[in-house]
Amino acid sequence: MQKICVLGLGYIGLPTASVLATNGFEVLGVDVSDFIVQTVGGGGIHIEEPGLQTVVRAAVQSGNLRAVREPAPADVFIIAVPTPLTADQRADMRFVKAAAESIVPHLRRDNLVILESTSPPGTCANLLKPLFESAGWTIGADLFLAHCPERVLPGKILRELIENDRIIGGHTPACAERARELYAAFAAGTIFLTTDTTAETVKLMENTFRDVNIALANEAALLCEQLGIDYWEVARFANRHPRVQLHTAGPGVGGHCISVDPWFLVEKCPEEAKLIRMARERNDSMPKHVVSVLREMTEGLEKPKVTILGLAYKGNVDDVRESPAVHVVHGLMEAGLTVCAYDPHVSEGSAWTASLEDALRDSDCVALLTDHSEYLAIDPAVAGQLMRGRRLFDTRNALNAEAWRAAGFHVRRLGAASA
Ligand SMILES: NC(=O)c1ccc[n+]([C@@H]2O[C@H](COP(=O)([O-])OP(=O)(O)OC[C@H]3O[C@@H](n4cnc5c(N)ncnc54)[C@H](O)[C@@H]3O)[C@@H](O)[C@H]2O)c1
Repeated sequence: MQKICVLGLGYIGLPTASVLATNGFEVLGVDVSDFIVQTVGGGGIHIEEPGLQTVVRAAVQSGNLRAVREPAPADVFIIAVPTPLTADQRADMRFVKAAAESIVPHLRRDNLVILESTSPPGTCANLLKPLFESAGWTIGADLFLAHCPERVLPGKILRELIENDRIIGGHTPACAERARELYAAFAAGTIFLTTDTTAETVKLMENTFRDVNIALANEAALLCEQLGIDYWEVARFANRHPRVQLHTAGPGVGGHCISVDPWFLVEKCPEEAKLIRMARERNDSMPKHVVSVLREMTEGLEKPKVTILGLAYKGNVDDVRESPAVHVVHGLMEAGLTVCAYDPHVSEGSAWTASLEDALRDSDCVALLTDHSEYLAIDPAVAGQLMRGRRLFDTRNALNAEAWRAAGFHVRRLGAASA
């Protein structure tokens, strides 16, 4: 297992390809985007991730990582392409299917194919296996197939890629063993072997666990607003119980994983996955709540302008996929408000504004949607001088409310009474 072909050079595929290359493997990174192939081929990166630039440059300079448009024969093929949602909340498997089809002409005896993309239960068994078998291969005999889900945290991908425990699901036990050999070469965490469908479900349940718990926190935050109390105080005290861990409430759930993956279980088991569906709906409803609070805070003002701090789905990352902040921006625009969004990690998007000063100038209300560290350093007095009105809605409970109040701001926090 010396030559590895990684399909998809995004948040998962690029760190994986470069870590494998720096561990001595000969890696061919394949992407359908010319821009990505050119950027990575030149030793650069197209996504923001701490430490990634250094590893990619080293991998390319060593000659172990090459970026290309088309796959070529290899010992191992790793599929790390997107698995987004369709408009009707089903798994869009077109990228996985296209990637699998693209390697078929290059397969050789004893090759190992690993699906890293998060996929609905049964994808290896019912999509990939028939696809490879129709090309004449027998899984577990002359071709090996496994699902090895990624559980890295954006912002800590390089460390977690190596340190996290790994669940490897083989289509047969021999497939799992082959995949273990590969990951054991660079992974420091414990490796557990199971079946492909179990591994697919494990990954989905991990993100569903988080989504359901966030939904509970968001629901509790809304209850607290109604009850006139503070969710953050409730959570702080409840979490003194040794077996309780209430999560953090917020403006919704975004990113390519937690807001997407639970739907794959709903799709497979619609009758049973009732709680999972309700959690998704609760989290998806949060941007609407944020819009309604902001409309209330700016009611009666002439041509109100709202400043949005943060477009990314979470703090200190540049990823806007499924970001609740983007839904809030669109909701405010549809309601006829003027919106300026400032995000130091994001370089374009609806209402995108190049500087904090421009975003704040003549604004009536500032809303914190993403807890980037940069926002903690904003001086409320300076912000207040630029703004037309002094109103702050903190949907993350991240800013120092007392300091903003001292600078003359009317402060609202998600999950707390409006007074
Ligand atoms: N981003 C995360 O934090 C994370 C964490 C765990 C799991 N995952 C899962 O990993 C998978 C990949 O996610 P990502 O965030 O890296 O996506 P991404 O969009 O950042 O990257 C995917 C890349 O695949 C390329 N691509 C699409 N079709 C292709 C094809 N046929 N051949 C070659 N390249 C192709 C795209 O151009 C893109 O560059 C998804 O299933 C996702 O759910 C992501």
